Amino acid sequence: MLKAAAKGQAVALNAYQLGLHKLRPAFVMVGLFSAVINVLMLTGSIYMLQVYDRVLSSGSVPTLFGLFAIVVVLYAFLGYYDFLRTRSLSRMAIKLDQMTGAATFRNWVRSGLPGDAGAGPMAGQPLRDLEVVRSFMSGPAIMALFDLPWVPLYLGILFFIHAWLGWLTVAGAGVVFLLALANRAVTRRAILRSMAMDGAERDFTERSRRGAEAIQAMGMEQAITARWGAMHIATLAAGQMGSDPSEMLAAASRAFRMLLQSAILTLGALLVLRGEISGGMIIASSILTGRALTPVDQIIGQWRSMARALEAHRNLGAFFAAQPAQKQQIDLPAPTGQITVTRVSKLAPGKPGTDRARILNQVSFTLEPGDGLGVIGNSASGKSTLARLLVGAWGPDAGEVRLDGATLDQWDPVKLGRAIGYLPQTLEMLPGTIRDNIARFDPEADDGSVIAAAKLAGVHEMILRLPEGYATRLGGAEMPLSGGQIQRLGLARAIYRQPRLVVLDEPNSNLDVAGDDALAQTIAALRAAGSVVIVMAHRPSAIAAVNKVMILHSGTVAQFGDKEEVLAAVTGRTAAAQAPSAVVPEAVEAAATVPEVSQRTDAEMPPKVAARVKAMTTPKSAASQTPAPQSMENVHDLAAATPRTAVFRAAQPPAKPTTPKVQP
Ligand SMILES: Nc1ncnc2c1ncn2[C@@H]1O[C@H](COP(=O)(O)OP(=O)(O)OP(=O)(O)O)[C@@H](O)[C@H]1O
Ligand SMILES: [Mg+2]
Repeated sequence: MLKAAAKGQAVALNAYQLGLHKLRPAFVMVGLFSAVINVLMLTGSIYMLQVYDRVLSSGSVPTLFGLFAIVVVLYAFLGYYDFLRTRSLSRMAIKLDQMTGAATFRNWVRSGLPGDAGAGPMAGQPLRDLEVVRSFMSGPAIMALFDLPWVPLYLGILFFIHAWLGWLTVAGAGVVFLLALANRAVTRRAILRSMAMDGAERDFTERSRRGAEAIQAMGMEQAITARWGAMHIATLAAGQMGSDPSEMLAAASRAFRMLLQSAILTLGALLVLRGEISGGMIIASSILTGRALTPVDQIIGQWRSMARALEAHRNLGAFFAAQPAQKQQIDLPAPTGQITVTRVSKLAPGKPGTDRARILNQVSFTLEPGDGLGVIGNSASGKSTLARLLVGAWGPDAGEVRLDGATLDQWDPVKLGRAIGYLPQTLEMLPGTIRDNIARFDPEADDGSVIAAAKLAGVHEMILRLPEGYATRLGGAEMPLSGGQIQRLGLARAIYRQPRLVVLDEPNSNLDVAGDDALAQTIAALRAAGSVVIVMAHRPSAIAAVNKVMILHSGTVAQFGDKEEVLAAVTGRTAAAQAPSAVVPEAVEAAATVPEVSQRTDAEMPPKVAARVKAMTTPKSAASQTPAPQSMENVHDLAAATPRTAVFRAAQPPAKPTTPKVQP
């Protein structure tokens, strides 16, 4: 079904408009039902007319019963068509949801991307908007809208009975209509405001729950509750501001309508006394006036829900329109993994025209299948941004990223996604089992591929040791895994079905020595199988198994080339850096700790030997270490790396703190 929806999306760009368009025949049908219903609604007044003018004057009981039998049949039809109309509308509502729900959800998820691919924080709450539209479509307000075009019919009959009765009703309808306009004027802004505030409040609530551990630990509960309380009261107040005048106007309108009914009776009686109409016509016209004003009255009563629905409808239209149009993709053959980055620049997300910081500046490089690239650089040098661009989560502002010669947006997204593995820096598993998460929620995943990915990532045994193994549920309140375990699961997800391009953003920030080694082996195995592996790293151990290194400095490539050459150049320059004329001191500092470690655990080195070397060179605890200037740099890097993992740590029960691995 998802596939079908994806195809539909490719044909018509705006799934919401398409959904509404497809409902057109059903809308016409409802219109026809409304026509029948409104004509049948005349039954009551015509019956009154007949009873007063024919039965009462002639005293004929058989006529009365005959007329009554006809009325019974007509009301039966009325009921039946009313039922048909209600049922059609509620089915249409479900159908709209079915046709657009998946696309709305997909776009909503996409809008979470902080870059230009997503609509950013302005995206609103399209799923809730869709719910509002859906409940409007099956609610009473829409029926009033369908009845509204029939008001002239009742007015016409009133005019036919007597022009004065017609005019009085028109004047009454005018007053009611003005009340409706006033209602709209006073509520519109309030409704908009309260909807926006409601969204913000929900967002705050959700995020607070996710940050529960930090809130609890640092005693933020009271402050957070106070903040929520303030938001909540403001939301309520905004809603109330609109609802007070709206309710007053609705009540005024109801009272006025009853008054109008009596006014019609009065005028009717006057006309009877003048001998211009018959007695039965008084009652008939009173009923007709009531009917003519009912839809108007209902619309006023339902004004708030209608305004909300209209707003939601507009939001949805704007939301879908803001989604970048998908290029027509051609079914390219599965990529080999050759990646070419040409003068890619990226500005900080923001409105075009405003002053936006340059995160990446003219980055260029090429990698062939089987290459492994380590990207190192200080914090905020643009490593994660480059990772996002490489996997297509963000688009570049200038330059190109090409996979097998085609820019990423030329690929079919599903095919491209299969060819890409990405381990983001902040990682959150989705609610589901471990198997689901590794298999990227692919409904057709086979166990073999899941286990192969887990084994390649070195997590198979760890998963089996869990009481429920691969069926262990992640997400939600209980998170039965440690930060490092989650990071390794993220790695398994990234390499599920051996993608051709694997981008790992700080894959070892939570790993211990064993995890580091497993990671190096995984990278080596992926490269041996012909995948391109790109590792963004603070800690040099992550780049043990790569053959190329890039040093990023403030978004610019300071060095790129074979690992040995770059590292040799950097160490050479480190010596030079003692002199004050260093060119890129920060990048050099960042890379300065690389050579010794990478030599220790080089890809060529058997993993066991590497592990032993590492065990020998790794002190038992950070405290027992006498820091040399370079190791200080390293310790500093580690400390800097820790807080950024807080997001997925916060999703777990308070666990024993992981001791960061320290290298000499
Ligand atoms: N969504 C964003 N909006 C605005 N600026 C951003 C955004 N994401 C990143 N930046 C900016 O881009 C720069 C590079 O960030 P990036 O996350 O790529 O650094 P990094 O090298 O991965 O750092 P770290 O090693 O700390 O992970 C930073 O200055 C950051 O402020
Ligand atoms: Mg980063």
